[in-house]
Amino acid sequence: MNYPAMQGLTLNTPAYVKNARLVAWVADMVALCKPDSVYWCDGSDAEYQRLCQQLVDAGTFKKLNEEKRPNSFLACSDPSDVARVEDRTYICSALKENAGPTNNWMEPADMRATLQPLFDGCMKGRTMYVVPFSMGPLGSPIAHIGIELSDSPYVAVNMKIMTRMGQAVFDVLGTDGDFVPCVHTVGAPLAEGQQDVKWPCNKTKYIVHYPETREIWSYGSGYGGNALLGKKCFALRIASNMGRDEGWLAEHMLILGVTTPQGKKYHVAAAFPSACGKTNFSMLVPPAGFDGWSVTTIGDDIAWIKPNADGKMYAINPEAGYFGVAPGTNMVTNPNCMLSVRGNTIFTNVALTDDGDVWWEGMEKDSGSLPDHLIDWQGNDWTPEIAKQTGAKAAHPNSRFTVAATNNPALDPEWNNPAGVAIDAFIFGGRRSTTVPLVTEARNWTEGVYMAATMGSETTAAATGQAGVVRRDPFAMLPFMGYNMSDYFQHWLNLGEKLAASGATLPKIYTTNWFRKGADGKFTWPGYGENMRVLAWMIERIEGKAGQGQENLIGVSPSYGDLNWNGLDFSAEQFESVTSIDKDAWVKELALHAELFEQLAYHLPQELSDTKAAIESRLAA
Ligand code: OXD
Ligand code: MN
Repeated sequence: MNYPAMQGLTLNTPAYVKNARLVAWVADMVALCKPDSVYWCDGSDAEYQRLCQQLVDAGTFKKLNEEKRPNSFLACSDPSDVARVEDRTYICSALKENAGPTNNWMEPADMRATLQPLFDGCMKGRTMYVVPFSMGPLGSPIAHIGIELSDSPYVAVNMKIMTRMGQAVFDVLGTDGDFVPCVHTVGAPLAEGQQDVKWPCNKTKYIVHYPETREIWSYGSGYGGNALLGKKCFALRIASNMGRDEGWLAEHMLILGVTTPQGKKYHVAAAFPSACGKTNFSMLVPPAGFDGWSVTTIGDDIAWIKPNADGKMYAINPEAGYFGVAPGTNMVTNPNCMLSVRGNTIFTNVALTDDGDVWWEGMEKDSGSLPDHLIDWQGNDWTPEIAKQTGAKAAHPNSRFTVAATNNPALDPEWNNPAGVAIDAFIFGGRRSTTVPLVTEARNWTEGVYMAATMGSETTAAATGQAGVVRRDPFAMLPFMGYNMSDYFQHWLNLGEKLAASGATLPKIYTTNWFRKGADGKFTWPGYGENMRVLAWMIERIEGKAGQGQENLIGVSPSYGDLNWNGLDFSAEQFESVTSIDKDAWVKELALHAELFEQLAYHLPQELSDTKAAIESRLAA
C-alpha cells in the first residue's frame, strides 16, 4: 500500500533502524493515519518514567501513594471500553472456510475498504508511537518480532512491561528480518485546539487480523487485548497461523515448573478460559503437607511450543509481564501475585483508596473488613452501604494489573531461557458447576485432544457479553483461534502422531474442573493452593508412582487414596461429589459435543468423531 507523501512530517527514524521494509511501512502508515509526530520507543526506563508522567499530566494516570505502592499508577477507562470485544474481532483470511465457523470473517478486500476511511487521519493531533517488541526472549529460535504503531502512550508503557520492548529488537531484526506489523489507534483524532479526554476511544471498534499477510489492525479501543497487540492478536491469533504452517503450537496456556521433594523438575502447560484462575495456578504456593515441593512460574497466559529434534516439546512464554484480573486476588488466593504488584505496577479500572492506594473486591479477606470509603473505577464515591444498596462494584470485574514477570517472587529461573522448557503434561480446565470431574487423565493423545476440543466453560467478565453461560471453548482458544478450529484439532493430532512416530514419549494430557458446586450452590473443592494435590498426582502419574486410579467414561481419575490429603480435611464423600460421573448429565453433555461437532463439521478429524462414538458406547454399556 502506498499513500501520498507526508506533508512535511519527519519520520524521525533513528539511525539504528536499518530494516527497509519497516521504514517503508511506517512511512505508509504515517501517511495514512496522519499523526502530528512520530516517536520511536527505545524501551529505556527513563522513557517509561517520562511517558508515565505524561499520562499523569493528561489525567489518564493517577500516581499512587509512593510509600504504599511505589512507582505505580491507576488508569480508569471509559466505561464503554472495559474488555475484549469478541463480536468486533475478525479473522480476514482469503477464504471464509479458513477462518472457520467460530470466527467473524470478512473478505480481506472488503475489510481493507472498511478500515481505510476509519484509519485515514485517525491519529491527527496525536503522536504515533513506534513500539518494537519481541515475543519471547530476544533472539530465541522460538521468538518472533512485532512492531506496533499506536497513538496511545498507555499502550506504549504497557507494552514495555508486557514484552521485551525497545531498541535491542532492531539488532535482532537487522536489515531484512521479519516482523508482524500491528497498527493500533484509539480512533479519536483531535481537531486543532481540541481538548483531549482521559481515555480516548471510539464507539466503533474493529480488531482485525489478516492471517495470510500476518497483519493486525486495531481500531477504537484502548483496552487490554484489543490494544496491546502482542498478546491475543499476535501471540495467539496470528501465531496460531504461523504454528500451523511451521509445525508448532501457539496456545492459551500458562507454563509452570514443579519440583518434587526428590529434586526432579517437571514442566506443565495449562489452558483455562479467561478469568478462570490461570494466574493463580501459575503462581501456586503448595499448602502445608507438601514439604519439599515447589512451583515456579514460566508464564501465566500464553505458551509457544515447538517440537525439538529430541522429540520433546519445548515451550517459551512469549510475554514478559502479566496482565491479570485483579478482583478475587488476595493473600489466600494468590500470595505471589499480591507480592508481585506491591510496586512498579499499572492498575486499570480498580478502585482508589482515600490514602492513594488501590483496592478491589476480595482484598477484604486480607484486611478483615471492607474499606469505609473508596473512589470506584468510574470515579464515584463507594462505601459498603452504597455497595449493599446498589450492588456497585468498586473495581470493574475485568479490572487488571500490568506487572513485569521479574516482580514475581516465584519466577522460574528458566523463564527467560531462549531454548524454552520441555513440557511433560498439558492440562485443560473449564469452569463447570456440574458434570466434569475434578481431574481426568486421557488414556492417549487422541482422547486428550478430544477432551480439549470439547471443553465447555461458564463465561466470565473477560469479554463483553453475558457471564455465567456455558459455552464450548475448545482448548480455551475460542476467542483466540486464528484459523478454522477443526484444522487446529487436526494440527494437534498430526503433531502428536509425528512425535510418536519418531519414538518420543508424548506429554500426558489432563482435564480439570476446580469449580464443581454442591447442592448448597457453593464450590466443593477448595481450589487455589489446594490444587497442588491434583498437580502432585499428575506428577506421580508421570513418574509411574501413583496408584492405578479408576477408569471412568472419559479416562483415568484418581481414587480417594491416591491424593495426598495431608493438612486438608476433605472427606471421601466430598471427593466422590467432585469426581463422580453422572450418567444423565453425560448424556446431555455428549449431546452438546454433538452440537459442537455439527458446527465444526468442515474438516472435523474423523478420530474425534470416533472417540465420541467410543465414549457413547461406554456410556450406554
Ligand atoms: C486475558 C484473557 O486477558 O484471556 O488473558 O482475556
Ligand atoms: Mn488469557
